[in-house]
Amino acid sequence: MEIQLWREILNPYELAVKEVTTKFNHLIKEHQDRGLYSPIERVEGRVKSIASILEKCQKKKIDLEDIETRIVDLAGIRVICQFVEDIDKVVEIIRNRNDMEVKQERDYIRQMKTSGYRSYHMIVYYTVDTLDGTKRLQMEVQIRTMAMNFWATVEHSLQYKYKRNIPKHIRERLLNAADAIILLDNEMSNVRSEIMDAQNSFQIKANIVADILNNIQNLYKLANKREILKIQDEFYRIYAMNDIERLERFNKQLDVIAEGYRAQSLARNG
Ligand code: GTP
Ligand code: MG
Repeated sequence: MEIQLWREILNPYELAVKEVTTKFNHLIKEHQDRGLYSPIERVEGRVKSIASILEKCQKKKIDLEDIETRIVDLAGIRVICQFVEDIDKVVEIIRNRNDMEVKQERDYIRQMKTSGYRSYHMIVYYTVDTLDGTKRLQMEVQIRTMAMNFWATVEHSLQYKYKRNIPKHIRERLLNAADAIILLDNEMSNVRSEIMDAQNSFQIKANIVADILNNIQNLYKLANKREILKIQDEFYRIYAMNDIERLERFNKQLDVIAEGYRAQSLARNG
């Protein structure tokens, strides 16, 4: 095949990789702008090199005419996440997108490959607009944690170094490392829920404080100035203790006090 023809074939795939990496990067920004945690840490993309295409064709006995249908990773996107839980979120985002149609999904995370490799793979259809009109092409999206990515990168280099015949003792080491990656990702997941809990209790505290301030404001209409100042001081004292339960109890006390004033004024007026 003429080199110029390779360029023509691969050109739309280059566009697809550029577009999709830009779109995922923009998703990261959207999360940041809204103060939300982004399940995507970073995105990488590449078009398969002609050398690897030729190698794959040879290995899998693929006719050069069939590369676009049979080689699904001519365009490859890699989405790197911080935590395992983020992967399902990214999968869901991709399933729901209108510009991508999922052709196939492979879960090598719950079903690790015998090599020790873990990642979530999706083959999606994606359409680009070129000088020759629209073209619907296939693209492989690999979604994995930073730890899984570390493993896969190292293992890939070793495969390259040993021409895909990694010696047994190194294979064993890699399998040990793969187990360690599972442990590491699990440990990090525990840290993640700690972060979520912290954010959650901050929100709870913020809501109680808002409620207390509202109650105190209402008491201004009922109680006398000295009483209000006493209540305010009490609020600052309890707030400084950093104890949500105390704040909750204090809030209930305010309810009782307000109720008492209301009863008094009813008795006066009645
Ligand atoms: P190829 O492996 O690409 O020939 O196609 P396949 O039909 O076997 O698909 P598979 O899902 O096994 O692999 C697709 C891609 O995932 C590969 O091109 C690699 O990028 C990656 N991959 C799969 N297995 C491994 C592995 O054992 N180690 C590493 N480092 N990457 C892997
Ligand atoms: Mg394979």
